[in-house]
Amino acid sequence: MASRHQQQVLIIGSGAAGLSLALRLPGHYRVAMLSKADLNQGSTYWAQGGMAAVLHNRDTVNSHVQDTLAAGAGLCHREAVEFTVRNSRRCVEWLVEQGVDFDLREDQSDRQDREFHLTMEGGHSHRRIIHAADRTGRAISEVLTERALAATNIEIFTHRVAVDLVVDQGRCQGAYILNQQTGHVDLFQAGAVILATGGASKAYLYTSNPDGASGDGIAMAWRAGCRVANLEFNQFHPTCLYHPKAKSFLITEAIRGEGGKLLLPDGQRFMQHFHEQAELAPRDVVARAIDHEMKRLGADCVFLDISHKSRDFLQSHFPTVMSRCEEFGIDISTEPIPVVPAAHYTCGGIMVDTNGRTDVTGLYAIGEASCTGLHGANRMASNSLLECIVYAEAAAAHISETVDQNDTFIDAAPWDESQVTDSDEDVVISHNWDELRRFMWDYVGIVRTNKRLQRAQHRVQMLQAEIAEYYSNYKVSNDLLELRNLAMVAQLMIRCAISRKESRGLHYTLDYPQQLAEAKDTVLQPENSPLQG
Ligand code: FAD
Ligand code: SIN
Repeated sequence: MASRHQQQVLIIGSGAAGLSLALRLPGHYRVAMLSKADLNQGSTYWAQGGMAAVLHNRDTVNSHVQDTLAAGAGLCHREAVEFTVRNSRRCVEWLVEQGVDFDLREDQSDRQDREFHLTMEGGHSHRRIIHAADRTGRAISEVLTERALAATNIEIFTHRVAVDLVVDQGRCQGAYILNQQTGHVDLFQAGAVILATGGASKAYLYTSNPDGASGDGIAMAWRAGCRVANLEFNQFHPTCLYHPKAKSFLITEAIRGEGGKLLLPDGQRFMQHFHEQAELAPRDVVARAIDHEMKRLGADCVFLDISHKSRDFLQSHFPTVMSRCEEFGIDISTEPIPVVPAAHYTCGGIMVDTNGRTDVTGLYAIGEASCTGLHGANRMASNSLLECIVYAEAAAAHISETVDQNDTFIDAAPWDESQVTDSDEDVVISHNWDELRRFMWDYVGIVRTNKRLQRAQHRVQMLQAEIAEYYSNYKVSNDLLELRNLAMVAQLMIRCAISRKESRGLHYTLDYPQQLAEAKDTVLQPENSPLQG
């Protein structure tokens, strides 16, 4: 039997964005927070390098702003960048207050005066990445999760998959939620609904992301009438472990920050030929250079060498990378690591303002699902955890000013479960899923052309038609919902890519290799947009 729930605030997603928003809301709000799998299974948990912030007077807000603008290839919104960077220090302080244990410098004896250890990553002109060894996301996730579990006003529901939003009279009033344990679709109603559902890198065959990164929030927001922007800019991380048995494991950029060098199979360095910052060039440049060299040489991978550092240093800074590589027989203290690029981060997403508000009243989006204007055409390393925490705080403040505790709820209809067929076609869903991810990799990857994008568009249209027709009467399941959402987001990514007639940041096309003088966002508006007419 399906159930009905009512809270003041419904947060869909329990990564850095969802958790910090829940904890930032005043304690008198009743909050429901959902995750579609176990807690700590989103991208946040796997974040390695750290979080960028301006933390001491050797660095400046202006320098962080300028580096972000440069990485974003002219497309960042300056006010979003300034807003985020200005708030970075306070957000680190808040995380420390919550109990996150970031690494301290080892070279100072007086504990009172000790500073955080800051590491370096691509595009940054200063050491400004605060971290907890190479498991920063896990440190943040575990502490915030513990806090949320202890909070009496926050109710956490796991294995709940948001299917679609409830929008009535132009206002988002809640969402239909699949309970994976009972198989029923429940109705959750709330005065404010927040999409904190993460990115969509699972649209690609090879990705650093965990399984749930299927763009559910972006697809739900689009169906509900929200504009989306800049989805052609999906970031490829240059260095994921290349091993037949390793399921896309990330090798943190901080390894290059600490002096790691990229090598061709014959042991030669090559990044100095592509950019003055060599291994520490922005990610789009490094990923394209690796792709170019692999294609030129017909090589399966390139190599990342950090073996000049001592075993003790590597053990204390990169324990996760070290032990994962050891599982595959690679000792990073004595030999280079085989690496390839893989899809990593969705720079575009649901358009929001500085409070995380979308086009639909009562609906917010924060974290990787959103497009705030911070990343432009290419996200600078370690700016995304920061964006999650900064925009969660802003959205919480806005919700506290606008959501009335005594709001009454509309009489929304329950989910129609009357005409569903049980699916015995799981294998077909998984074939469709593979097909989608393969053509996105082949045709909408690091290097694009008009022809490849048109092919991808043709295929995604066929797939969407098949999904609409074939599965219309099927019982909803997580796999089916993810397939439908991924196909929808892939279609939006392709439309954005086709409409950009230039190469900029992460979008590189052989048909338009130049960057245009004027930088413009790619904005898509759905037919049911509240801004229409
Ligand atoms: P996530 O942490 O991805 O959480 C999404 C949540 O939404 C999950 O709880 C999921 O269950 C839930 N969800 C999704 N769909 C539904 C649905 N339909 N119904 C219910 N719940 C749903 N960034 C940095 O700044 N620094 C780094 O060092 C860094 N390293 C990274 C390393 C890796 C391997 C990866 C994959 C990413 C890394 N990133 C890093 C990027 C960063 O981790 C993410 O952008 C960020 O954590 C996203 O947080 P989020 O809260 O928006 O989403
Ligand atoms: C990494 O550690 O290389 C990932 C950093 C990021 O994606 O911001």
